[in-house]
Amino acid sequence: MPELIVRKLHPALGAEVRGVDMRIPPDAAKFRQLHDIWMEHLVLVFPDQNITDQQHVAFTRCYGELEVHHQKIIRSRFLPEIFRVSNVNDEGILMPPDHPTVRQVSLAQFWHTDSSFREKPSVGSVLHGVEISRTGGETHFTNMYAVYEALPDSLKRQVQGRRALHDFGHLHKLANLKPLTDEERAAMPAVWQPMERVHPITKRVSLYISPIYNDEIEGMPQAEARQLLTDLQAIAAERRFVYPHRWEPHDIVQWDNRCTMHQVTPFDPTERRVMHRTTIAGVEPVLAAAH
Ligand code: OGA
Ligand code: MN
Repeated sequence: MPELIVRKLHPALGAEVRGVDMRIPPDAAKFRQLHDIWMEHLVLVFPDQNITDQQHVAFTRCYGELEVHHQKIIRSRFLPEIFRVSNVNDEGILMPPDHPTVRQVSLAQFWHTDSSFREKPSVGSVLHGVEISRTGGETHFTNMYAVYEALPDSLKRQVQGRRALHDFGHLHKLANLKPLTDEERAAMPAVWQPMERVHPITKRVSLYISPIYNDEIEGMPQAEARQLLTDLQAIAAERRFVYPHRWEPHDIVQWDNRCTMHQVTPFDPTERRVMHRTTIAGVEPVLAAAH
């Protein structure tokens, strides 16, 4: 078994890992090593992993159960655990920018963390660059532990002990899509999540927001809540906290949804971009920081 070679990519977060062959799930010792590296660096980049969707799913299973996205238009028709972040449909045809699926996927251009609208949000995501963009389409990751620690006192006071509403329906409003039906709403009711969360493994505290799903904060008028979310995002976007990932074909990037946010940068919509994601399902509700 080759040794793992780890190279830090940015002072705030991110490491490239070589010496892994994702076609074969790691044994227990290697898995523990990978997990430790993940907890330390938050975002791992595995270059040159030309794997099948089945291998992608099998690798992710080492970390737990997988989420199956609740919307048909996003998940793969061939393998339901594959979430398609793509402007190309299951038949391989490029969709126009105003196609509802493309509009929804494009909201990943705003900062968020995956499936924060679930009562037990995802642990992490594993994204495979199948067809990558050269005109943009970088994925930016921000370290929300560091963001939390850097908050000025005035903002820290405002998030202390507070909860934000995470609502899948908010995404639909932003994308100007058909509002959710009562049935869809009942399937994914909005949830209040603490804004200061404790990571269940590292025990570190991070800021927990996911602006594509948030526009309400507990006990705050909406205009004030929106301003606070804007101010928090501006800090999260500061370069000192952000690792920008420029994709190469068959990079696989794995991130921790419990202590990072991400966004994709704009790209030419006539360029094909096909990214396949697996999502490690949450096992517990979000843990609020104690005061
Ligand atoms: C995601 C996501 C960003 C990208 O897969 O969850 O937000 O770069 N993707 O495609
Ligand atoms: Mn995402």
